[in-house]
Amino acid sequence: MMRSLSLLLLVALTVLGGSTEGNERHEQAKREFLSRSKRRWVLNTIELEEEMDVKYPYKITKMHNLRTVGTEYEFEIKGAGVKGVFSINETSGEVYVHRRLDREKTPSYELTFDILDKKTRKTIDRDLSFDVNVKDINDNPPMFTNQFQKSYDVKENTKEGDYLPVPLTVEDIDQEGTINSTVVVTVAKQSPAVPKIGVKKVNDKLHQLVTEGCFDYDVGLNLLK
Ligand SMILES: *[C@@H]1O[C@H](CO)[C@@H](O)[C@H](O)[C@H]1NC(C)=O
Ligand SMILES: *[C@@H]1O[C@H](CO)[C@@H](O)[C@H](O)[C@H]1NC(C)=O
Repeated sequence: MMRSLSLLLLVALTVLGGSTEGNERHEQAKREFLSRSKRRWVLNTIELEEEMDVKYPYKITKMHNLRTVGTEYEFEIKGAGVKGVFSINETSGEVYVHRRLDREKTPSYELTFDILDKKTRKTIDRDLSFDVNVKDINDNPPMFTNQFQKSYDVKENTKEGDYLPVPLTVEDIDQEGTINSTVVVTVAKQSPAVPKIGVKKVNDKLHQLVTEGCFDYDVGLNLLK
């Protein structure tokens, strides 16, 4: 037989912060940069943190090309999603970002740089493509993704350690597999105080409520509403 037991549970989420983890794509970009720079293009590494609190447009790097000697040249920048976000000063080679980046929308950009002869409009050198990785910051709060019912029925014979039929699915869209998307779910407050309710992590996406004491029938009756 099932008895309805009304539990008011407030669940609070805590997110751990701070850590330093390598970024493979970034390393790959760096290697590419090194090998390409042995040719005629020179640029500084580009890695940008998302949501940078700076004055825009913001200078991020400067391009040089060693084949420009004695020519009137101009730089160009292109790539998917680059327009309005990145620009290059066509004479100085300074590269600017024009607005805050959001890693959760666009985690990386591929920029392609060209250098053209001003008169003939022909390219002076092979173009240079380069990945810009947007570095994650912990800017997204974790969120429950399931709907909660007002009340859940719990079997009277629920024993200590049993799962309660209350799924808690949580999502944090910051970078997967890092501390910034790590979520800790705890019960912040419960009423009534017994039996004690805890939270168990089932997997990265799912937590479940669990009893840490016994549902006492007599006490249970008192809880009936
Ligand atoms: C590009 O750089 C040159 C040289 O630093 C500067 O004189 C010029 O004003 C810049 N152009 C723009 C559009 O900012
Ligand atoms: C997480 O976020 C913090 C600041 O919000 C940032 O400094 C850090 O680099 C991010 N990434 C990792 C893997 O910790």
